[in-house]
Amino acid sequence: MGNTFDIRLESLANPALRAPVAGSAEQGSAAPTRGTFYLETFGCQMNEHDSEKVAGLLLARGYQQVETVEAAGLILYNTCSIREKAAQKVFSRLGEYRGLKGDGKKIAVLGCVAQQEGEDIFTRAPWVSLVCGSASYRKLPELLAQVEAGAQRVTGLDNDTDETFETEMTRRDNPWRAYLTIIEGCDKSCAYCVVPFTRGPERSRDSNRILQELKQLADFGYSEVQFLGQTVNSYSDPSARKMKFSELLIAAAQVPGILRVRFTTSHPRDFTPDIMEAMDAHQAICNHVHLPAQSGSTRVLRAMQRSYSREDYLEKISLIRAAKRRTAITTDIIVGFPGETAAEFDDTLSLLDAVKYDGVYSFKYSPRPNTPAATMAGAIPDDEQSRRLALLQEKQRAIQAETLQRFTGENFEVHVDGKSKKENSWYGHSSCNRVVSLNSPHPDLLGKYVNVRVTGCTANSLLGEHVVGVSGAVLAAPELD
Ligand code: 5AD
Ligand code: SF4
Repeated sequence: MGNTFDIRLESLANPALRAPVAGSAEQGSAAPTRGTFYLETFGCQMNEHDSEKVAGLLLARGYQQVETVEAAGLILYNTCSIREKAAQKVFSRLGEYRGLKGDGKKIAVLGCVAQQEGEDIFTRAPWVSLVCGSASYRKLPELLAQVEAGAQRVTGLDNDTDETFETEMTRRDNPWRAYLTIIEGCDKSCAYCVVPFTRGPERSRDSNRILQELKQLADFGYSEVQFLGQTVNSYSDPSARKMKFSELLIAAAQVPGILRVRFTTSHPRDFTPDIMEAMDAHQAICNHVHLPAQSGSTRVLRAMQRSYSREDYLEKISLIRAAKRRTAITTDIIVGFPGETAAEFDDTLSLLDAVKYDGVYSFKYSPRPNTPAATMAGAIPDDEQSRRLALLQEKQRAIQAETLQRFTGENFEVHVDGKSKKENSWYGHSSCNRVVSLNSPHPDLLGKYVNVRVTGCTANSLLGEHVVGVSGAVLAAPELD
């Protein structure tokens, strides 16, 4: 979907910053030039948004972004290490870059694998010149200057920071929906998770700066914002305003031009009633909560150091279900955590039945370096993990099929963000974050909010027709005619 988006930079002051990506297929591959960079991103939305900020930082310093490795003088690889497979991918990709150093290209590894593996990356891939974790991105310009000056092994690996990554410029990929980080790092120390090691301690951004950035985004035409954080609802305003997370959501929903406010990921422990009250009172706050459970067994949750029981979690679900607005709930589940018995896995299956999630992201447990779970006894063999994962996914498929079918005949407001190849066919998202494919003869719906009557569904999305002028339909924006 990403390739249909324009390039946006949040600076009108310098027209050079709005230059399109060069070196695209149409232009052919240019000879390697200094001052050009290619940036590839793996991993979560936080990583995607970090890459947008890194790109902004480089563009603001006169670098030009290109779409191919061949056309680039500098290759940046923003990495993910949440599971072993993701980290392995980094080294196999770096293997492909072997030999590029001889062509005068500089290679930099950024993100979680950089932070986790540190200088060992230079040993495994000596053609890499720079290794930099996310907590050191503010130093990137000076680190890159060292690389450009010929330094061989440059590192930015400090993790003990109270700084957040503020940039004067961000190159956003989507012209209508913007990511905005409100809290970085994580203090939760779940037993399986590398994030506290790779992204450092929790740091919340000043609410004044967040709202200032949001107003600027609205001025640039963005109508939807997604607040990001590993534990977004653990937000703790460092400014004198001391805004609560729910107050920040309300303030964001009141910014003129902002029609949708999303947030992810919420930690169950910090999911408090005032968040649902804010959602009920402000239509612009999207009716979707991503609330990772990880397991349905209290014993496993305790071993995971998740700081809530199955019952505590289900109370949070009741809170969401009791709200006035019908709210979609999605979750993350890990199967095969060390010591997870067959009965404990059944508890997770029964959690799916109890909650009837609108979406589940499920993973086989993967041991990560430095984490307490890595040395726990009771490893579950891979084939058993696969079996549990398949059972879980099968159950969720059945639950989703039933839920989605029930929407036939209902109307949804859809923010259109893409055009399908088929004639008159578009897709977008509802406030509750369902993917909706719709038919409409309208010549250009991109970025628009339209009213859609649901006519059917696929395994993961809704199908519908664009309806104009339907009474009773609540639209955040004036409806298109
Ligand atoms: N193994 C498997 N899944 C993991 N996650 C985090 N760490 C691990 C791990 N070591 C999953 C969790 C988290 C999501 C982003 O990734 O479910 O919520
Ligand atoms: Fe990892 Fe737990 Fe923090 Fe989420 S809350 S980022 S799973 S340590």
